Amino acid sequence: MDSILIQGGRPLRGTLSVQGCKNALLPLMAAAAAIPGQTILTGCPPIRDETVTLALLEGLGVSTAAERDRLVLDASRDGGTAPDPTLAGQLRSSVLFLGALLGRYGHAGVPLPGGCVLGKRPLDLHLAGLEALGVQSFCDGGILHCKGRPRGGHYHLPYPSVGATENLILAALGAEEPVWITGAAREPEIEDLVNFLTASGARISGGGSSRVHIIPAPLHGTSYRVLPDRMEAATWLCAAACTGGSLTLTRLCPDHLRPVLRALRAAGCEITEGEASLRICAGDLHSPGSVRTAPYPGFPTDAQAPVMAALLRAEGITRFEETVFDDRFRHIPALQAMGARIACSGSAALVTGVRELHGARVAATDLRGAAAMVCAALGARGESEITQAWHLDRGYGNFVQRLRRLGAVALAR
Ligand code: UD1
Repeated sequence: MDSILIQGGRPLRGTLSVQGCKNALLPLMAAAAAIPGQTILTGCPPIRDETVTLALLEGLGVSTAAERDRLVLDASRDGGTAPDPTLAGQLRSSVLFLGALLGRYGHAGVPLPGGCVLGKRPLDLHLAGLEALGVQSFCDGGILHCKGRPRGGHYHLPYPSVGATENLILAALGAEEPVWITGAAREPEIEDLVNFLTASGARISGGGSSRVHIIPAPLHGTSYRVLPDRMEAATWLCAAACTGGSLTLTRLCPDHLRPVLRALRAAGCEITEGEASLRICAGDLHSPGSVRTAPYPGFPTDAQAPVMAALLRAEGITRFEETVFDDRFRHIPALQAMGARIACSGSAALVTGVRELHGARVAATDLRGAAAMVCAALGARGESEITQAWHLDRGYGNFVQRLRRLGAVALAR
């Protein structure tokens, strides 16, 4: 999708089933390369990052088949240890092949990953953790080479990096001795990875907590349903909030969305919860005060841009503080072009609610920033065009069709 045209001002209404989680699916797909058997994943969203990861797996000799929301990945036979650099450069999660291949084969040569530009995204914690487990690494010509079967032992993450926690868990699967990771990230996607690996024969305790213990064990194929996508759910809630709409979302876990629900409720949205569903009714909004991103269970950095879009017309001043990534306000100029009043200073952004937004032609900067621009455009007067809309294809399946089903006037080009 090159661009999206949106005619704003229509409240979104209806019911949507939330898609499978991108940030859970991609680590599971990388993990499948470590499993000498057939992995069947269901509930998979039709997103571009999945297509790219399928191609990466094929390149490593894993046989793949995709039908509707089901993937069959067969890594029964030993395969390659060097993912394709062009494909790997399109995704952040390609770095997880490092742990997966290292755990299985005792060596790997993984290209430096790509993904959204959100500021510095170093890999020092991934490599320090591997080194603590006895793995040597060096970077040459854009390829990260790792050698040596992980010995086992303990590593304390000085910051709860999602990717480093996942990489270390994957590498530990093939360790000679048990591995303890403390200071681990606690995101639901990590718990999902651990649940999947446990279903595949791994012996892991503490997934989703800051202390993870991995006892090496033989792995086998399994069938597994991917977790619902809390960030897709957050995006739809914000789209409803931007348009004064009312939506019911099904197939989600409300607990995974606590800080987002808290902010939207504090802004005046009525949100009712079922066991695996949410209903939002939005009217006039006011500032919820401040929103500060933090590792889980804090307010998710991925929801910062969409929630900012939802509060552009909220009465009063909302202060956003981004603490996870150092350049995650790249969507702000586009929101300003739609009439938003936002003052930025370092890691803080002050949003002063305006009465009205107007349509504009803006360029998407990253996946969640693009989602924020769409949300703002849905609530703006007149027509907007969001170019470079391919960012959205990476993480939202059938996005424009789903928008239209909820009553939006939107066109993909
Ligand atoms: C993951 C998600 C991404 C999401 C982000 C935050 C996946 C594949 N990606 O990214 O979609 O936006 O979490 O929820 O699930 N850091 C270091 N050194 C390291 C690793 C990280 O300094 O070795 C820093 C990063 O620069 C960043 C912070 O730690 O400032 C968080 O990064 P991390 O949790 O690793 O995020 P990702 O795994 O990249």
